Amino acid sequence: MSPAADRGLKWQPRAAIFCPRAFYLTETHGEKYARLGYHRCAGLSTLIMATAYLQCIEEACGERQDPRKDAHQCASCGGLLEVRYEFDPYEPETLRRAWHQRRLSGEPIDRSGVWRFRELIPFVNPTDRIISLSEGSTPLTGTRRAGWWAGPVHLTIKHQGNNPTGSFKDLGMTACITRAASRNVRRVACASTGNTSSSMAAYAARAGMKSILFVPYRQISAAKLAQALDFGAIVVEVGDTFDQAFGLLRQIAPEFRLYLVNSVNPFRIEGQKTIVAELMEQRAWRPPDYIVVPGGNLGNASAIGKGLRELKEMGFIEKVPKIVVIQAAGANPFYRTFSSGSAELIPVDPPQTEATAIRIGRPANWKKGIRVLQWSGGLSESVTDEEIFEAKRVLAEDGVGCEPASAATVAGVRKLCRAGKIERHADVVAILTGHQLKDTDYIMRHRSEGEENSRRLRVEASLEALRKVLEQALARG
Ligand code: F0G
Repeated sequence: MSPAADRGLKWQPRAAIFCPRAFYLTETHGEKYARLGYHRCAGLSTLIMATAYLQCIEEACGERQDPRKDAHQCASCGGLLEVRYEFDPYEPETLRRAWHQRRLSGEPIDRSGVWRFRELIPFVNPTDRIISLSEGSTPLTGTRRAGWWAGPVHLTIKHQGNNPTGSFKDLGMTACITRAASRNVRRVACASTGNTSSSMAAYAARAGMKSILFVPYRQISAAKLAQALDFGAIVVEVGDTFDQAFGLLRQIAPEFRLYLVNSVNPFRIEGQKTIVAELMEQRAWRPPDYIVVPGGNLGNASAIGKGLRELKEMGFIEKVPKIVVIQAAGANPFYRTFSSGSAELIPVDPPQTEATAIRIGRPANWKKGIRVLQWSGGLSESVTDEEIFEAKRVLAEDGVGCEPASAATVAGVRKLCRAGKIERHADVVAILTGHQLKDTDYIMRHRSEGEENSRRLRVEASLEALRKVLEQALARG
């Protein structure tokens, strides 16, 4: 926020038509939150005006927060925060048309699948620098074998691996780093199972910030670590689990003035929620029956729930898809908590799964997760590492690669179908959260051992030897 706003000044556009960067920003004196309004401007033209504020999600509290504090927890009760908006009147159809038309635009901001829907995330000022790497705009792909295997269901894949750093984290990171830049933040930090760190490192580099990441020692994939190092992040290997690293980071962050970009940062959720607008647009605004995500810290499920809730409240969709969260059996605190109806989190210590991205035992956003599942009539399931591998293998037969955590979605759909909790031929969208090359160690472990090894052939450099080996290999089918 600008220094003027910090002093509680009232800005008015001097000449919105002549001055493309004119904007107004009002802060009501004595009130605890800022009123942010926008005009069309060259930097960030938006079609509707809105008021943005931060609010505690706890029903018993619900306190609005002072936006200048940049907190991630309620000042009164310590609860999670979320960004809320009050929109001035608008026509959904006008927005739909504008979003569609922006796909033809050459402007970098319109090429981002997050900022193309900027009317849904009006927490930035027109003069703010948008830190974008053309994230989003990911494909929606049908499956044949995987859908048949999992159900049969009508299964489509929204592949978030097709993002700049190869995971869904980029959607949240563009929003969060943009917010951080507007607050003149110099150092950003996160604890991570890998993907948040590569994404943070890339966006921080672009914004000219220092990035510091805390990762559990030898627990994240080499590819993700390599990405973070390549983007110049400081890597601190600490603790044995994500939960431990995250706990330590939260304690030490204020001392070193580190701006936290984990999904407890409500601005991360704002970027991530735009996936549902893009998904609905790709489906001609016809919601599916189910949207399935893998669950770790529960940021993604929360974001998808928030996005759907707002699209419904704003009149873009009628029907609400059920949100389904799948966890790995050795790291399933959310599944345990949700299915038992417990009012307290049932942690898993230490969490264990080969799907390292979701090896989390104390998910920070579990309360938001429970809320979106209750609101959408959603489900949660837990799948073994063997079931995850099987699903990943079947997806590969459809030509779809992903990291193990992402394949948990399809394994979960199969289990829920078999239990009769997802009906046959249901319309299901699985969010594949990370790229196939994010965890090549996993692939090599599973795909070049035992029977699988018969497809990896080392041959003497002669035609005769080649002929023999190829005849044998092809005969095996
Ligand atoms: N899938 C992948 C590939 C992930 O990297 C993560 C989370 C998830 C699913 C779960 O998403 O936490 O929003 O429920 N990765 C985080 C990280 C924890 O640090 O990269 P969630």
